[in-house]
Amino acid sequence: MRLLIVGHLGGQLAVASRMAIGASAKVVHAPDHAVALDQMRTRGADVIMVDVACDIGSFITALRAERFSTEVIACGIGTDAQAAVSAIRAGAKEYVPLPPEAELIAAVLQAVAQDTQAFIFRDPAMGRVVQLVDQIAPSDASILITGESGTGKEVIARYVHSKSNRANEAFVAVNCAAIPENLLESELFGHEKGAFTGALARRIGKFEEANGAPCCSTK
Ligand SMILES: Nc1ncnc2c1ncn2[C@@H]1O[C@H](COP(=O)(O)OP(=O)(O)OP(=O)(O)O)[C@@H](O)[C@H]1O
Ligand SMILES: [Mg+2]
Repeated sequence: MRLLIVGHLGGQLAVASRMAIGASAKVVHAPDHAVALDQMRTRGADVIMVDVACDIGSFITALRAERFSTEVIACGIGTDAQAAVSAIRAGAKEYVPLPPEAELIAAVLQAVAQDTQAFIFRDPAMGRVVQLVDQIAPSDASILITGESGTGKEVIARYVHSKSNRANEAFVAVNCAAIPENLLESELFGHEKGAFTGALARRIGKFEEANGAPCCSTK
């Protein structure tokens, strides 16, 4: 999962960043909104964590104006209840109190990004699927994975990625059902500067993010 942290990395936010890396997130840092927006336009991220000391309301407004639907997690000194309430009202998905707890950071990132745990199976039928994946994953073939809801299609997709030549590149999951209709085109294909009111700059889409856009720094 690719996490963008926005704010000054002094003290507790740096600790949160290290914990996220420990929870297998690829973390990149932006000191302010402008750098964060630029990061989103050129590389994208799965989740954004913002220090409440930065004005979260205007940041989320700017994000949505450029048609980013990426979830924002607010974080700030735990005792500041007012800041937490304002951040949630401004559109943040969760509030993480600082100093951070490793388990909480991991749980929040997992809940927001819907990252899956390790792939496990016992049934021989699934064993055959895995054999097939091991055969085809190193190729450039497109793979359509079908199955009922909750049967592990995304788990298999991640397994395919882990066995592919792109294993060290970003895995970009897109939950189309969670993206509002008017944002879908920009999210998937990006847009050019001036394409609509609010398109302040060129932005790449999920396909480009998944196809070799420079990845975040650390694991
Ligand atoms: N083989 C597996 N090993 C480990 N976890 C699994 C496995 N199969 C499913 N899960 C777990 O079950 C949940 C649903 O899996 P997943 O999101 O991959 O399903 P899906 O087929 O993509 O569902 P949907 O159609 O609703 O998107 C996840 O929490 C995932 O971690
Ligand atoms: Mg799925």
